[in-house]
Amino acid sequence: MASIELQQVSKIYQNNQYSVRDVNLKINDGEFVIFLGPSGCGKSTTLRMIAGLESITSGELRINGQNVNRVAPRDRNIAVVFQSYALYPHMTVAENMAFGLKMRGTPAAIIRQKVAETAAMLGLDQLLHRKPAALSGGQRQRVALGRAIVREPQAFLLDEPLSNLDAQLRAEMRTELIKLHRRLGKTMVYVTHDQVEAMTMGDRICIMRDGYLVQSGTPLEVYANPANTFVAQFLSSPPINLVSCIVRSRAGEIFLELDGGRLIRVSDYAQQHYRRHEGKPVTLGIRPEDFHARQHGAHWQPLPFNVTAVEALGRKISSPAPSTMSGLWCASTAIPCRRRGSGSPCIWIPIPCISSTAIPAMSCRVRRRRPLSINPGVRLCYVKSLCTWA
Ligand SMILES: Nc1ncnc2c1ncn2[C@@H]1O[C@H](COP(=O)(O)OP(=O)(O)OP(=O)(O)O)[C@@H](O)[C@H]1O
Ligand SMILES: [Mg+2]
Repeated sequence: MASIELQQVSKIYQNNQYSVRDVNLKINDGEFVIFLGPSGCGKSTTLRMIAGLESITSGELRINGQNVNRVAPRDRNIAVVFQSYALYPHMTVAENMAFGLKMRGTPAAIIRQKVAETAAMLGLDQLLHRKPAALSGGQRQRVALGRAIVREPQAFLLDEPLSNLDAQLRAEMRTELIKLHRRLGKTMVYVTHDQVEAMTMGDRICIMRDGYLVQSGTPLEVYANPANTFVAQFLSSPPINLVSCIVRSRAGEIFLELDGGRLIRVSDYAQQHYRRHEGKPVTLGIRPEDFHARQHGAHWQPLPFNVTAVEALGRKISSPAPSTMSGLWCASTAIPCRRRGSGSPCIWIPIPCISSTAIPAMSCRVRRRRPLSINPGVRLCYVKSLCTWA
C-alpha cells in the first residue's frame, strides 16, 4: 500500500521546455487516480517520474511520506504497465508472469504458486503454456497486468493500457480493472486520454494541460463544476455548449444577456456575486443533456429553439443548432421526436440556482435538482450543470 505525493514537481528535458510544471498532488493509499488530458500534456512523464524511470528536474516526490527523488525504480516497489504490453515473445504466459520474481531470486515453488493464483484471478489459467503470439489483445493485456500483480507491488501505474484494444474489449477490461482494484485495494494511477475511462474508472480525475495539473476531483465533481472551459469541453460528448454572454443589470436584478439580447436571470443567491461584474463578458456553459422540452420548475428558463438536425444514438438524441444561438448541442430523451423541425418550440433549461465559487472570480455553477419536482428552495448539489467563466 502506498500514498504518493508530488510537491511542485517539474520536468524539463534537454530541449529546455517544461513537460510537467509545478504539479502538486497527493494520491491517497488505495486510491484509483486517473490522469486525463490531451496528447503531449505530460501524463506519461508524470507517471514515469513516479515510477523513477524519469528524473525529476525540481520538486519533491514522496512515497509513504519518504522522499524518493533519488531512489532507483526497483527500490520503489511500484509496477508499471504500458500500452505496448512489453511481453517477451519467446516466453510462455507463465514464464512472462514469473520473470520479475525469478530475477529477484524468489524460490521456484513460491513463483509457481503466485503465478497460478494470479492467472486464476485474471482468467489466464488455461493459457499459461501459450506464447504471446497465440493470445488476443485482451489476453496479452491481462498477462502484462498479471506480471505486475505477481510482484505484489505497493502501487500500480498504468499508462494507457487499454488503447490497443477494440471498443468492446476495452469496455470489458475497464470493468476487470475496476474489480481488480477493489480486490487488491492497492494504489493505482491510470493514464488515459479517453474521457469515458476517466469518468467510469477512477475515484479521482486529474486533468492535465500543457504540463500543468488543471483540476483534480471526483469524476462527478469535475463534470459538474469544471474549473475552466478547457476542462468543461474535455469532459463532454456531445460537446458542452459554450455561449458568450454579458452580465447585465435590469431593474435592480442581474441577468446574463445572450447574443440577440435574450436574458437569463441569475438566481437569487448569486445575484450579489454577479453584481460586481456588471457589464463584463462571461462564457455560459450548458450541458447538452440539460435541455428539456417542458418547464419542470418555476425557475427554469426558456430559450427559443429550432431543431435543425437530429442524430439518433439509441436512447440519446443529439441535435445541433437551435435557432438563436448557432451550433448548440442538446442530448436528451426529454425532447420528444415529434418536436423535431416543428417550427420554433421553446426549449427549457433548468436554472434553479447559480452558485459562485471563489476562484476564478467569475466562475459559477448552476445547480440542477433531481428529482425535478423537489422544492426549489432546497439547495442540493447535482451533476450536469451550467457554468460560466469570465
Ligand atoms: N524524452 C523526451 N525528450 C524531450 N521531450 C520529451 C521527451 N518525452 C516527452 N517529451 C515531451 O514532453 C511532453 C509531455 O510528453 P508526455 O509523453 O508526458 O505526454 P502525454 O500526455 O503522455 O501524451 P500522449 O497522450 O501522447 O501519450 C511532450 O511535449 C513531449 O514531446
Ligand atoms: Mg503518454
